[in-house]
Amino acid sequence: MSSHLLIRAARGEVVERPPVWAMRQAGRWDPEFNRWRQGKSFYEFSEDVELAARASLSPRRFGVDAIILFYDITSLPVAMGLPFTLRPHVGPWPDQPIRSLDDVRRLSPRPEPTRFRHILDLLRRVKDELQEDLPVIVFAGAPFTVASYCLGTGKDLEETRRFAESQPQTWDALLHRLSEATVHFLNVLIREGADIYQLFDSWAGALRFDEYERWSASYHRRIFAEVAEVPRILFVKECPYLEVMCQSGADVVSLGTRHDLAAARREFPHLVFQGNVDQELLRCGTPEQVAEATRRCVQAGGGQRHIVNLNHGCDPGTRVENFEAFVRAVKECRGSGSV
Ligand code: CP3
Repeated sequence: MSSHLLIRAARGEVVERPPVWAMRQAGRWDPEFNRWRQGKSFYEFSEDVELAARASLSPRRFGVDAIILFYDITSLPVAMGLPFTLRPHVGPWPDQPIRSLDDVRRLSPRPEPTRFRHILDLLRRVKDELQEDLPVIVFAGAPFTVASYCLGTGKDLEETRRFAESQPQTWDALLHRLSEATVHFLNVLIREGADIYQLFDSWAGALRFDEYERWSASYHRRIFAEVAEVPRILFVKECPYLEVMCQSGADVVSLGTRHDLAAARREFPHLVFQGNVDQELLRCGTPEQVAEATRRCVQAGGGQRHIVNLNHGCDPGTRVENFEAFVRAVKECRGSGSV
């Protein structure tokens, strides 16, 4: 059994302080990352094991309690046979967007591990470097969010909905296929030593309740039931359906700024919560404001069953001194937690 602080907290064990990490802790807000990042396309960069390992490990210097591997939620559909290009100011874009059932059937539901060899090599490389000092987080996008990238609709929910309504069979087949591939992908990574995983359904929080149940929550439950060897984290950006998230089978539920962490801890005492410092503050605030908000967050979490994180990922405007203040504030709360 792992003895890493973050893993013990995710299992609900008593810890000496809450662990801290951030979504997109490796990214363009970090000048060091930008220096290495130059000159290669996003997928070339993330498929270069040396560079991806360097990017994954770079937040270590800030004192975070876990390392998330550097790849993307679209890396899985790439392995399934759908290449993507990163479009500046738009995001990942499929070279040939899914349009028909035949397009879905061409995607491999259980891609051979050789199709995502670079991620397995990255995991090995990062684990070797860490020597068990920190746990490794792997992740996948949930079917709804990944499907919207496969259609080329991304964050534009109206467009995604239009497709789902006009081609319900293709849409369902796509969600099913992505879900099968996700179970396979995560189980391979766990077999190879990943310590914990996070399922990102970033854009599902904007769905109506009935859509969320059909397109999002039903797949969360299936994936969490079928990938259960390590702790499971669910992230949905600012999700209005907290109760449904809490019944998904996740061990850890990520909260947004719309949620009250202390109330969630009281209402769902068997769960662990992650979050929920406002990432906007890391972009626009001062280090003092960030430290103050982080201390309030640690206090609201009560020191136990809490992983300190942001409401969403660090964006390119995040200030390095604010990220440092965020991590430092958690570590200075050492010993102040109550059981
Ligand atoms: O530290 C980490 O978390 C790094 C690993 C990581 C990346 N993407 C690398 C990346 C993770 C966990 C992701 C998840 C991801 N990717 C999500 C879910 C998280 C969230 O933000 O809600 C989503 C929706 C995506 C899709 C995606 N990939 C978008 C919208 C973009 C463009 C965003 C931008 O900032 O331009 C990407 C590209 C991408 N993936 C970048 C990084 C660091 C930035 C582009 C670059 O380096 O050129």
